[in-house]
Amino acid sequence: MTTIPRIGLGYDSHKLIDGDGLILGGVHIPHNKSLQGHSDADALLHAISDALLGAAAMGDIGQMFPDTAEENRGRNSGEMLQIIWDKIQAEGYKLGNLDAVVLAQKPKILPYVAAIRENIARILDVPAESIGLKAKTGEGVGPVGEQILLEVYATALIYRE
Ligand code: CDP
Ligand code: ZN
Repeated sequence: MTTIPRIGLGYDSHKLIDGDGLILGGVHIPHNKSLQGHSDADALLHAISDALLGAAAMGDIGQMFPDTAEENRGRNSGEMLQIIWDKIQAEGYKLGNLDAVVLAQKPKILPYVAAIRENIARILDVPAESIGLKAKTGEGVGPVGEQILLEVYATALIYRE
């Protein structure tokens, strides 16, 4: 029997504030700014979490881990993604592939892409080849270009055998 694969879309943004680096995909990237947020503000893992949840039609990360809950303050987004992925796998789904684009004027993401892909693959227990990742600047224009905001779009394909 053939089952139809399911696609999901995730998006997240966090404000850039003065700081000492960002965490994206669980990897620390040195920078003169940080991402502001209630958790560790890992916009990449948040967008990926929502892409996976969207594909399964299982809600979103904010429903599962409300930012009003004290236990979620500074929470590790890798741990949240792992819990989410466990729930989706329990419904019988496997990962086809993931893809994401980070929109940031700075810092340069490319030098960290391999390490981030490896880390996401480790969390989801899939090969790194299943994880696509790239970055774009904001061409110096708008909230991304002016380094006020970092945005991430992610897609995920899941399927049942
Ligand atoms: O050349 P194009 O306008 O398509 O893209 P860009 O926004 O100028 O970015 C050029 C390249 O820089 C991208 O293809 C990425 O490989 C890299 N990049 C990056 O590593 N980190 C960013 N925050 C933005 C771009
Ligand atoms: Zn977020």
